[in-house]
Amino acid sequence: MPTQSTSPHLPFGENKNADWYGKDILSVKQFSRDDLEYVFGVAHEMRGMVERVGTFDLLKGKILANLFYEPSTRTSSSFTAAMERLGGSVIPISEVKYSSVSKGESLPDTIRTLECYADVIVLRHPETGSAAIAAKAAKKPVINAGDGVGEHPTQALLDTFTIMEEIGRLDNLTVTMLGDLKYGRTVHSLARLLSTFTNIKLNYVSPDILKMPKEVMEEVGAKNIPQAEFASLEKILPETDVLYVTRVQKERFEDPADYEKVKGAYVIDPEIMKAAKKDMIVMHPLPRVGEISTDFDDDPRAAYFRQMEYGLYVRMALLALVLGKA
Ligand code: ASP
Ligand code: CP
Repeated sequence: MPTQSTSPHLPFGENKNADWYGKDILSVKQFSRDDLEYVFGVAHEMRGMVERVGTFDLLKGKILANLFYEPSTRTSSSFTAAMERLGGSVIPISEVKYSSVSKGESLPDTIRTLECYADVIVLRHPETGSAAIAAKAAKKPVINAGDGVGEHPTQALLDTFTIMEEIGRLDNLTVTMLGDLKYGRTVHSLARLLSTFTNIKLNYVSPDILKMPKEVMEEVGAKNIPQAEFASLEKILPETDVLYVTRVQKERFEDPADYEKVKGAYVIDPEIMKAAKKDMIVMHPLPRVGEISTDFDDDPRAAYFRQMEYGLYVRMALLALVLGKA
């Protein structure tokens, strides 16, 4: 899928009739292949602009409310950086305990409050479906920055953008997802989004208690994407084009003893990676807590730090889209 040919040309004009103007971004299911191509084109332009001028005034005067009920480093700071690089400003609420949430204010009321002051709201919340609840309460666009074990759509968009930039295609790929596939919302979104492409094969490697949810596998299966489950990486590493490693999500376990049983299940290191292709990549949404050895960081196939940077450009594109400037 070429990103160059469909790139829109900066500077963007106001386009209130554009498909994404005023829309919420709640799930990857909202994105067709054409939408993705468009987002990637805009993200590509954003990258060029950041490299050339750093900051520019596309969203001057616009305000983003960044509302995080769960911890975040990348998503929160990249949305802040995205808004500020586009000339806008940010209301940061990362410690909800210092907001009126701690007095018992409901999510819909919190959202109604913030939309009085902001043009767009980014929300991370521990409950699946919370972003949809927030979007129902809001007239302004709500962007889902992770709703419990549900979805993390902007992560999947930056993940697919990363694959496109690093490997140059999103069709004809074998993608292996490794780790906590049960509670990892990034893989739920990524598997769904990859099913939009052609000749994709998905391998899922996890401990038995952390398998990919049936619901996600059924949705992906309905698009005729071959999926296979494994307990170990060994057999499928040599055929893998993208190895997507995830953290075991300690905070989601009901029984801490279960976490202890699986926490060190897989560790990627230079020795294991000898069996992988030379032109594949290793991705991770991060943070990592031991599942990729730091000894692997200098390998050119280690794409996880570059992946974070791509997130800035994708989030700049998404903000421009929902605010009618792309
Ligand atoms: N940062 C990602 C998320 O919030 C992945 C993780 O925390 O493991 O879903
Ligand atoms: N990848 C990701 O969502 O990172 P944070 O949890 O640090 O935002």
